[in-house]
Amino acid sequence: MQVCETIAEVREVVRELRNSGPVALVPTMGYFHEGHLTLMREAHRRFPVVVVSVFVNPLQFGPTEDLKTYPRDLERDLRLARGTGAAAVFVPSENEMYPEQFCTFVDLERLSGVLCGRTRPGHFRGVATMVTKLFNIVRPDAAFFGQKDAQQLQVVRRLVRDLNLNLEIVAVPTVREADGLAMSSRNAYLDPRERRAATVLYRSLQSAREAVVSGRRDLAAVQERLAAGIRAEPLAELEYAEILALPGLTPPGDDDSELLLAVAARFGRARLIDNVVCTVEDRHRRTS
Ligand code: PAF
Repeated sequence: MQVCETIAEVREVVRELRNSGPVALVPTMGYFHEGHLTLMREAHRRFPVVVVSVFVNPLQFGPTEDLKTYPRDLERDLRLARGTGAAAVFVPSENEMYPEQFCTFVDLERLSGVLCGRTRPGHFRGVATMVTKLFNIVRPDAAFFGQKDAQQLQVVRRLVRDLNLNLEIVAVPTVREADGLAMSSRNAYLDPRERRAATVLYRSLQSAREAVVSGRRDLAAVQERLAAGIRAEPLAELEYAEILALPGLTPPGDDDSELLLAVAARFGRARLIDNVVCTVEDRHRRTS
C-alpha cells in the first residue's frame, strides 16, 4: 500500500494503479471504525483498485466545533486500511489542500440549508469543496459514502450531477453497534452513561419508521413523536428530528416515494446524527 502526501504523488500513483483496472475512492477524515472499513471492503469487492483519503477538512468545521479535538490516529488508520486491501492512501497536509490564497468553493443552493445545514452553516460548502477537489485529484471511477451521512450523500450526488462529473456514487448502509448505535468517530467522546443514552436515537427512529411503514399518514404527528422520544432521554439535547422527502430533502407530499427520517442530538460533547429511509414499497408491502 502506497502512502501519498502530495497531490502530484497521488496522481502519479493512481496513474500507474489504473493499469490494474477501475479505481474506487473512499474519502474519510480518518480515525477508522467498522463503518469506514466496510466502505473500503465494499469498494474492494466491486473495484480492483481502492484509494482511501484521510484528511480532517477544516473547511467543514464551524468556528466553535471540534476541529482541534477531532480524534486522529494515522498509524492505526494506515494499518487498518492496508488490512482491507487498499492500494493507496492519500494523506495531504492542510497546506497541500488549501494553499495560501485559496478562494474557490463549491456551494449548493439547495439541499444544504436544511437538517445539519441549518445548525452547521458552511458545513456542506466545506464538504462539497473537499469532495470536488478529491474527485478532481484522484479521478476515481466510483466513490463510496456511508448512508449514515444521508444529507452529505444527497449533496455529493447532486454536485456530481450538476457539475457533470464522470463517476458513480455508491451508498453503503450504516454500520451499527450491537445495540443499534450508528458507528461514528465522535462516539469516542461519549462517557459510559452518554453511550447508553445515545441508543435512544436508533430506537426512536425505528419506532417512527414502523409507524410510517404501517400506514400512518400524519407525518407531522410521527415527527413530533420521534422528537418527543429523544427529548425524553435526559442526557440527550435534541437538535432536530425531521421527516423529509428524498432526494430533494423537501417537505414530504403524497407523491413522494422515499422518505428520510433523520435526527441529530448532543450527548455531552458528542454531536451525533442518525437516519433511516422508508420507501413506498416498504409501506405497500406492510399495508397490502
Ligand atoms: O464524511 C466525511 O468523512 C467527510 O465529510 C468527507 C466526505 C471525507 C469530506 O471531508
